[in-house]
Amino acid sequence: MTKTARAHTNIALIKYWGKKDAALRIPLMSSLSMTLDAFYTDTTIEKATGSSDFYLNGKKQTPANSKRVFAYIKKLQQRFDLKEENLVVKSTNHVPTSAGLASSSSAFAALAAAFCAFYNINADKTQLSRLARIGSGSASRSIFGGFSIWQKGDSDETSYAYVLDEHPQMDLHLLAIELDTKQKKISSTRGMKDAQSSPFFKPWIARNESELKQMIAAIKNDDFTALGKLAELNANEMHAINLTAQPEFTYFEPDTIRAIKLIETLRDKGIECYYTIDAGPNIKVLCQLRNIKEIIENFESEFNNVKIVSASFGPGVTYSD
Ligand code: ADP
Ligand code: DP6
Ligand code: CO
Repeated sequence: MTKTARAHTNIALIKYWGKKDAALRIPLMSSLSMTLDAFYTDTTIEKATGSSDFYLNGKKQTPANSKRVFAYIKKLQQRFDLKEENLVVKSTNHVPTSAGLASSSSAFAALAAAFCAFYNINADKTQLSRLARIGSGSASRSIFGGFSIWQKGDSDETSYAYVLDEHPQMDLHLLAIELDTKQKKISSTRGMKDAQSSPFFKPWIARNESELKQMIAAIKNDDFTALGKLAELNANEMHAINLTAQPEFTYFEPDTIRAIKLIETLRDKGIECYYTIDAGPNIKVLCQLRNIKEIIENFESEFNNVKIVSASFGPGVTYSD
């Protein structure tokens, strides 16, 4: 018996960057994201005949690289009073892994869904979101399509994501500019822990509620300008915290700054676009349909052989067997 689930990545417009409880992944802030159609993970779970094994993109992973997956599965088996039996997990990322393009969001949403399907656990989407959250916080939002909100809550029971708008009509597109897709040195889990030493960490948390409210209003008013400006500000706040942590660190690379400068130039030319950046050097451009072509042309002429993926709203979790 095998069970397969697919989940899409999501990009946070109001970001999660700080935990209150690391083991349960209870965040210090609520976050809001857009699920993407272009990037996703397919994950299959089957009974093991021998040891537990984790295959990623067709390659058997080392025990060190499988640890997070099996620690997670063990947690879920304990939670549901299941026998701690060995399982084989086979996953394919249609997104670069560990490069700041949110592979952990689609990965743990797909894994939580495949786990429940495998064990016939009748979890509703709220419960699935809570289970995904335990694997990777951002995965709580990938259970849903369109725009979703992860309410921070203050316990396992109350910290989960829900849909703001599953099928948005908004003219909103995202161009993922893949500047550098090698594995980052500082995982998101580590980065957000280290960031708490910044003197700006408290102000960052204090701004969350009002930023979330403003973002919800921008979406409800179909106001691309307000959404883009606020998403860019929120991302820069997160990266400013990293740069002011003790010791400081940054996910930016020289090309990240070049890309930011290009976006500023495009705006000066009247092409409206904004950026957001996660825990990695790659930049995502928020724009509207009429400007996609020109923005891509500009990035292609500024960066040699850069891969650009155009995305818009994607669906929530789906199953294929
Ligand atoms: P990202 O920016 O890609 O989300 P993170 O540091 O948040 O980077 O998470 C990367 C980690 O997520 C990987 O080291 C791995 O443990 C886990 N991961 C990524 N893809 C998968 C997958 N398909 N199945 C299980 N775990 C995965
Ligand atoms: C910058 O969800 O990857 O992408 O919970 O430790 O697995 P863990 O972290 P993760 O962090 C995502 C951080 C972010 C912002 C966001 O997606 O909200
Ligand atoms: Co991640």
